[in-house]
Amino acid sequence: MTPVIGRRFDNRPLALPWPGCPHILVGGETGSGKSGTLNAIIAAVAGYRNVAICGIDLKLVEQWPWRDRFTVSATTTSEADRLLAALRTLIAYRSQFLQDRGLRMWRSEFGPWILFVVDELAELSGFDPDSLVRAALTGETRDIMRDARGASQVRTALLGSLARLSRACGITIVTATQYPSHEVIDQQIRTQLAIRIMLRVASGEQIDVCLGRGYGKRISVKSIPVNQRGGLWIAGLPDDPEPVRGRAHFVDDDYIARRAAATKHLAWSYDDVFQLATDPPAVHSIP
Ligand SMILES: Nc1ncnc2c1ncn2[C@@H]1O[C@H](COP(=O)(O)OP(=O)(O)OP(=O)(O)O)[C@@H](O)[C@H]1O
Ligand SMILES: [Mg+2]
Repeated sequence: MTPVIGRRFDNRPLALPWPGCPHILVGGETGSGKSGTLNAIIAAVAGYRNVAICGIDLKLVEQWPWRDRFTVSATTTSEADRLLAALRTLIAYRSQFLQDRGLRMWRSEFGPWILFVVDELAELSGFDPDSLVRAALTGETRDIMRDARGASQVRTALLGSLARLSRACGITIVTATQYPSHEVIDQQIRTQLAIRIMLRVASGEQIDVCLGRGYGKRISVKSIPVNQRGGLWIAGLPDDPEPVRGRAHFVDDDYIARRAAATKHLAWSYDDVFQLATDPPAVHSIP
């Protein structure tokens, strides 16, 4: 299974390690092709039977064309909170399941691998819009903002906890951000996002955040031309010690509609993913 998400500049396929893929950060300024790259990643695994796809899409529009292939897509902060909590509970269950069998890594026969797609990380760690509107309309800013700040901290902490623990449990997080900076990406979360895809960015500091410290001096912001949407550098691939230059496949809404229709029979129901089996499958072989 090699999900191909684009091409390298030497024209070889650009593939992700699968299954058990490390978490992925996609960084790039607005219009650089972040959502397109997330779609290329979703499209690359959508055809696999044992992959459930979940997501958070607070912009409402990006994951909609995929709805038939997704298990769940949260479009509000409160739905996002519930999905993060459900995933965290699932990890506790799956961790125990692995520990009971003396195993370190999820396997296909235990249940689906999960691709968890979060478009625009900053929205998730920001204030929820309902609280902002309520604060603006009522003038009761202090209490409302205190609660909103608390909720945002809980969300960030949950995501951090997922980022640390989920890979071994068969969950790969893919998240995009317009602001690949130390302020927006919690350091603990960033270190867990081992594969970094950098689209066009604005500064050397952003290159350092995306690809790793020092690359801002070695790679130019001009290395990805403005008109080359989906043009990228990718770091953290197991077989490539240095960042690789490439381009994500172009995936438009028509293609997604066709791909979602062709693969919807592979979509996992929410219950099948999150309902925790009381009688888990036996392990047939322990290496
Ligand atoms: N790999 C690609 N090849 C060609 N065109 C692309 C590619 N990826 C994206 N595009 C085009 O570039 C435009 C912007 O892409 P996209 O919406 O993915 O950017 P974005 O970084 O998510 O922007 P935003 O910050 O506004 O969410 C779209 O019109 C899309 O069709
Ligand atoms: Mg986008």
